Amino acid sequence: MASKNNVMKDITALCKRRGFIFRSSEIYGGIASTYDCGPLGVELKRNVKELWWRDIVQLRPDIEGIDSAILMHPKVWIASGHVDEFVDPLVECRQCHHRFKADELKNLEQCPDCGTKDCFTEPKLFHLMFQTYMGPVQSEDSIAYLRPETAQGIYVNFENVRTPARQKVPFGIAQIGKAFRNEITPGNFTFRTREFEQMEMQYFVYPDNAEKWYKYWKSQRKEWYMSLGFKMENLHFHAHEKLAHYARAATDIEYDFPFGRSELEGIHNRGDFDLSRHQEFSGKSFEYFDQERDERYIPFIIETSGGVDRCILALLVDAYEVEPERDNPDKMRVVLKLHPKIAPVKVGIFPLVKRDGMPEIARKIESDLRRHFMVFYDDGGSIGRRYRRQDEAGTPFCITVDGQTLEDDTVTIRERDTMVQVRTKIGDIPDVVRRYTVDWERNKGLPGGK
Ligand code: GAP
Repeated sequence: MASKNNVMKDITALCKRRGFIFRSSEIYGGIASTYDCGPLGVELKRNVKELWWRDIVQLRPDIEGIDSAILMHPKVWIASGHVDEFVDPLVECRQCHHRFKADELKNLEQCPDCGTKDCFTEPKLFHLMFQTYMGPVQSEDSIAYLRPETAQGIYVNFENVRTPARQKVPFGIAQIGKAFRNEITPGNFTFRTREFEQMEMQYFVYPDNAEKWYKYWKSQRKEWYMSLGFKMENLHFHAHEKLAHYARAATDIEYDFPFGRSELEGIHNRGDFDLSRHQEFSGKSFEYFDQERDERYIPFIIETSGGVDRCILALLVDAYEVEPERDNPDKMRVVLKLHPKIAPVKVGIFPLVKRDGMPEIARKIESDLRRHFMVFYDDGGSIGRRYRRQDEAGTPFCITVDGQTLEDDTVTIRERDTMVQVRTKIGDIPDVVRRYTVDWERNKGLPGGK
């Protein structure tokens, strides 16, 4: 059994080897804690984002989607509290000049890097927002920030969305987009990076109902993660005692990563902090007139804020297994047991040999299936090696065109988790894949498989 540290190393290596995720600007030695997604990574990410959008926006009449700009008026970040509050106290070792978050050192008196004793400077505040300048003149007046969260783009557009969409409280606004934080201690692969993507939803409610909706969204969000195929025992709630400046209550959904239990998503009761602050700083009213109650008020906000990249990392960790091969138990295989609905490639297609018309039939199946799913054609090396490659990619099905296909238009379809096979008519493949995807449970296999 690999140690927990080795699991992270093995997953990082698999991500590079199979084209999920690799370091950004790698040919120049990389740039700290910044990553690019390859062909499999981008599909996995798209699938997760599309499911979130479908479940949060498409299926719900009470939630609207938006896509706001990354660059916003600098006053947004004063009103939001980020200019004053989004800081970490840092100390520096006078000997090796390494910097640490003051609260991470706790009562340490010795530098964790060079071992020098009593070497730390007094804490200094370090700003986590990336700052830039807009326009040709670089001055105090042209400062702009890369957004550190997508949420503010929702608050400032409250009326721009509510009025045309004819929404009434309670209702929500959702968006998926990039956020940037100049993190001091990024790390654990893509867990904490300086550029990342968020899936955020802000739900506007009558103040007296905030507690009820907070509980509702906590359970909805945990269920959503379970619907992605996560092992239930790895997901946990963690209620915060120490709260951020905007929050009245906060709970994290945490995942058991190999490096420890850590946050996947935050659910916050933000009270009327955000709309009140934007009302104060912009001079525009954020009061809502509730016709049913015949009452004016500033809605409270229940926020669900998840990281796309963190979710992807947790899914990879959760799906990663090393286990004996079915027909050769002395040999181990690496397999990603991803839910088929998020798997980057749904079907691998192999001709058994590169002759007797098998490649032509396999190519025809490939082009027909491309209209339904992401597929991958592979005729390189033994069938066993081709299976291994697709197991590592998390591909739930592999189809082999063999001698019998030439006689009766059937193929073998091999399921990833159990490695069992069934024979299927070529025309039935899309149905088999779809039915299995709807009913998927880890290690269940195909009905009638051998
Ligand atoms: N609008 C509230 C907000 O941004 P947060 O807890 O700071 O709350 C929400 O961030 C989520 O965004 C986190 O649960 C995490 O999934 C993701 N996230 C935050 N910082 C991140 C980072 N540096 N790298 C990757 N993901 C991050």
